[in-house]
Amino acid sequence: MKAVILVGGEGTRLRPLTYDIPKPMVPILNKPFMEHMLDLLKKHGIKEVVFSSGYKVEAFMEHFFNGEKLGLKLDYVVEEFPLGTAGAVKNVEKFIDGTFLVFNGDILTDADLTSLIKYHREKKGIATLTLTPVDNPTIYGVIETDQNNRIQKFIEKPSWDRVTSNYINAGIYVLEPVIFKEMKPDKNYSFERQIYPDLLERGDLLFAYKTGAYWLDIGSPEKYMKANQDALLGNIKLETHLKREGSGILLGDSSSIGSKASLEPPIAIGKNCVISKGAQIGKLSVIGNSCKIESGAVVKSSIVWDNTIVEKSARLENCIIGRNCLIGEEAVIESGAIIASSTKIEPGKVIESGVKVG
Ligand code: GTP
Repeated sequence: MKAVILVGGEGTRLRPLTYDIPKPMVPILNKPFMEHMLDLLKKHGIKEVVFSSGYKVEAFMEHFFNGEKLGLKLDYVVEEFPLGTAGAVKNVEKFIDGTFLVFNGDILTDADLTSLIKYHREKKGIATLTLTPVDNPTIYGVIETDQNNRIQKFIEKPSWDRVTSNYINAGIYVLEPVIFKEMKPDKNYSFERQIYPDLLERGDLLFAYKTGAYWLDIGSPEKYMKANQDALLGNIKLETHLKREGSGILLGDSSSIGSKASLEPPIAIGKNCVISKGAQIGKLSVIGNSCKIESGAVVKSSIVWDNTIVEKSARLENCIIGRNCLIGEEAVIESGAIIASSTKIEPGKVIESGVKVG
């Protein structure tokens, strides 16, 4: 079975990090998010993947090329303008030759795709939508089903008095090619708002596959951080090249940890890093490859991307720092701040809570 992954969005909520890297390529435990997603597909026997892309497609191509190294066959289709979730899938129709999977390209999950596909075949609908429970369904599109899990209704962002289900669309579908029939090429369509409700109206069979698997949309800074932290905590098990050093510490090859540096698990430190003496890496931090954390610097619950230098006695707390940054001596980056890649923060400067630089 083939999978189509939607990776054409601009990732506006993750700006400024997504100005130079598309959202699906942001690192989770120092590995592009998309690579984790491809690991999951491979685990469930999916060998051919079509990327439906537009925004910064070259980032995917440079990293994955034709997929050979991962044992996959990858194809790329690039949109001239955004076609929406369903229009984007219509746009890759020529690659589809049977039942196929569709993924939003920002969903971190360990869902059992084998069981999802089996369920779809048993139910014999034209679409099976994976649903996941959430605490607050009012900010999502809720889906109502009958006792046989046949979908009855789509309700976009319902007010609390209209909430009849806490199951939302998880952005993972198994579809039959007949879904394309009424869709015109090069037209913007949304699955959630248009195509699925139209199919229901026509009386087509759409089923829900309810999963209790780990599920997180990594699209906002808070959730992106949570994805890394959940991976550190083992709430989702991800494959990593980092080696386990003692309990809760993941460490890349050729990294050095200075004397009296303090490492508080769970943390991850990439390869070729230098953590100088007296530096502190607090729990739930992820340090990218080839980073330098100088003496007396403190990194707490923060994500630092590759090739970044944190100079002496600088302090980072609950923040995200892009690639190739230089955080000057004694600078302070407060909670919720985001520093874009290739940014230099002057020594002693304070970046206040929630501020985005770059
Ligand atoms: P925000 O701007 O922060 O909302 O992010 P986004 O637009 O990148 O993502 P959104 O959550 O809106 O979309 C879910 C998934 O669908 C993401 O993986 C997007 O890359 C993808 N996507 C959204 N719109 C399009 C589109 O028009 N074309 C394609 N190919 N993919 C899309």
